[in-house]
Amino acid sequence: MTGPDSPERARRDFSHLLSYGDYLRLDTLLSAHQPLTAAHDEHLFIAVHHVSEVWLDLIVRELHAAMSLLAAGVTDAPLKMLSRVVRAQEQMTNAWEVLKTLTPADYLEFRGAFGQASGFQSAGYRMMEFLLGNRNPAMLGPHEHRPEVHGPLLAAMSAPSIYDLALRLLSARGFALPPEVLERDYAAPYAEDPAVLAAWLAVYRGPQTHWDLYELAEKLIDVEDNFRRWRFNHLTTVERTIGFKAGSGGTSGAGYLRRALDTVLFPELWQVRTHL
Ligand code: HEM
Repeated sequence: MTGPDSPERARRDFSHLLSYGDYLRLDTLLSAHQPLTAAHDEHLFIAVHHVSEVWLDLIVRELHAAMSLLAAGVTDAPLKMLSRVVRAQEQMTNAWEVLKTLTPADYLEFRGAFGQASGFQSAGYRMMEFLLGNRNPAMLGPHEHRPEVHGPLLAAMSAPSIYDLALRLLSARGFALPPEVLERDYAAPYAEDPAVLAAWLAVYRGPQTHWDLYELAEKLIDVEDNFRRWRFNHLTTVERTIGFKAGSGGTSGAGYLRRALDTVLFPELWQVRTHL
């Protein structure tokens, strides 16, 4: 049957044309899938890490683009980019559902092969965290031997986070924020400030007057909400796979990950709800 909808009508000779696989460089992409053991379940472990890293790469691109527009005072396109970040985070969180089919016994079949390697050394994850404002110079350590990775991370750590840019926008719209908020040392942890809380309170009390700032604030809450979900599901997956053993990267494992759940990226946006 060769009707108008038949597959025979599709182009089939790609000897001189760019094909799907060529465009996406699938040979290169899939050649990175290199298990170190013959264990069947190592394929799943590698695939879930790979897809997570691809999503992180996209999230970082979207955050960079959104941040350069926010720095220029533009809010509409960044809101769309942050919506995409939120959807990509959901995909990362859903990936735990696949990985949870890995039992402790399955994992032990290949765990010995990758030595000290750990997601703790994920440059993509650290870049996402640094852009979102969770910064700690100790996290740069694993990248010191790779200047092409270390350089951009160091630059991100010393530049305004997405929240710093949102606060600059509040200031540009006439909300009085002190210089210690606007010109702070960006590598240092963000310290909550009553003037910032007062500004967000005004935004939340008058959304019609400050609609784009209100939308931006709620979008940031979506991002932090999903960030927490990913972390919580990681912790649960870790507990069901390795229990309370130390991590391959050298931390205490579940204890370290549990403590990280206390991180707050955008403190006044959570506080504002109490005061409304
Ligand atoms: C069975 C699967 C997994 C186990 C047992 C596991 C275990 C751990 C442990 C124990 C840590 C703490 C650091 C250390 O000492 O190693 C950690 C950190 C981390 N893992 Fe996993 N992990 C798993 C899967 C994943 C996946 C699929 C990703 C996706 C990218 C990932 C990303 C990370 C990241 C980014 C950190 C650093 C978190 C932080 O510093 O806040 N992990 N992992």
